Amino acid sequence: MTNGRIGTAALGDGGPQVGVQGLGCMGMSFAYGPADADASRATLERALELGVTLYDTADTYGAGDNERFLAPFFKAHRDEVVIATKFALAIPPDDPTRRIIRNDPPYIRRCVEASLKRLDVDVIDLYYMHRRDVNVPIEETVGVMAELVREGKVKQLGLSEVTADELRAAHGVHPIAAVQSEWSLFSRDIEAKVVPAAHELGVTLVPYSPLGRGFLTGSFADADQDLTSDDFRRRMPRFTGDNAAANAALLDPIRTVAEAHDATLGQIALAWVHQQAAVHGPKVVPIPGTRRPSRVEENTTATHITLTEQELTLLDPIAARVAGPRYADMAFTSAGRE
Ligand SMILES: NC(=O)c1ccc[n+]([C@@H]2O[C@H](COP(=O)([O-])OP(=O)(O)OC[C@H]3O[C@@H](n4cnc5c(N)ncnc54)[C@H](OP(=O)(O)O)[C@@H]3O)[C@@H](O)[C@H]2O)c1
Repeated sequence: MTNGRIGTAALGDGGPQVGVQGLGCMGMSFAYGPADADASRATLERALELGVTLYDTADTYGAGDNERFLAPFFKAHRDEVVIATKFALAIPPDDPTRRIIRNDPPYIRRCVEASLKRLDVDVIDLYYMHRRDVNVPIEETVGVMAELVREGKVKQLGLSEVTADELRAAHGVHPIAAVQSEWSLFSRDIEAKVVPAAHELGVTLVPYSPLGRGFLTGSFADADQDLTSDDFRRRMPRFTGDNAAANAALLDPIRTVAEAHDATLGQIALAWVHQQAAVHGPKVVPIPGTRRPSRVEENTTATHITLTEQELTLLDPIAARVAGPRYADMAFTSAGRE
């Protein structure tokens, strides 16, 4: 293994090259308990040194705070980074358990202007629809996103948590560069339809939560006991109570493989995503999230690990045995609409 720079992959058909692993920045402002701003800034810089160029945020992460936090880093490195942000999802401040999803054109236009302002940039490199509002035809949503490209506000388009049919319909309106969906040793529902569609269309897969929101690293075993009271994972079905105990037992084969490679569990989880994508064919740029420079070093090193066929076979049954759904309400996911 080496701690050197990572390789690259194209973002979309004929699109720009980005580091083959991106960085999820959500936790720096939102969802996973308190963050140390200095450590987060050091993480961003270290990631860039290691060849990470795709930085992932969304307007909803901390209600704009995450975009504002990232702005100075992006300004200092504008030509080296690919900025990905998202619209469509709002969380009411008085009820963090609720989700408001909107895909209508006037809303999108307001969102893009607000993101451009918070990020303090002239153009967003990759603009995602974060969640699908089924009351608006996808063609209409992507139609206005395509207008944003023509107007120079956005360079490339992405979709998150869409079905294969939605991806095809959207791609018919304007080329989609990236689909961002959950994909990990614990969450493989997109392999049936979305991944083959992305491969066929030349769309890059951007797996989010490739470390199973940290659970696959073994760094916490039960969210209620191990994480702070404001941590979003305490409301996720897989990480508490009986489900957490059952799921912790599923880490054993990952531990076995990790020992064989003198690697960490997280590195094996990330190496698996790359190799699973190679099995299915699409280009892949996972975006593990971390706020610590040492972890970005650990995570990028995983791109140099190759698992054997025997190891892949050992890891293969894990996802089918996971207790609990990805979210408490699966209606907002692609699997919920397939
Ligand atoms: N499109 C969507 O709907 C959607 C949904 C969720 C997430 N996302 C995006 O995807 C990104 C990644 O997903 P995620 O953050 O949910 O989950 P993840 O990448 O699977 O895991 C992140 C968690 O793992 C911990 N971690 C990272 N590297 C580690 C290591 N080497 N050893 C031990 N623990 C480690 C992090 O803690 P520390 O930060 O303390 O290191 C954090 O708690 C997010 O940042 C966000 O940008 C998108």
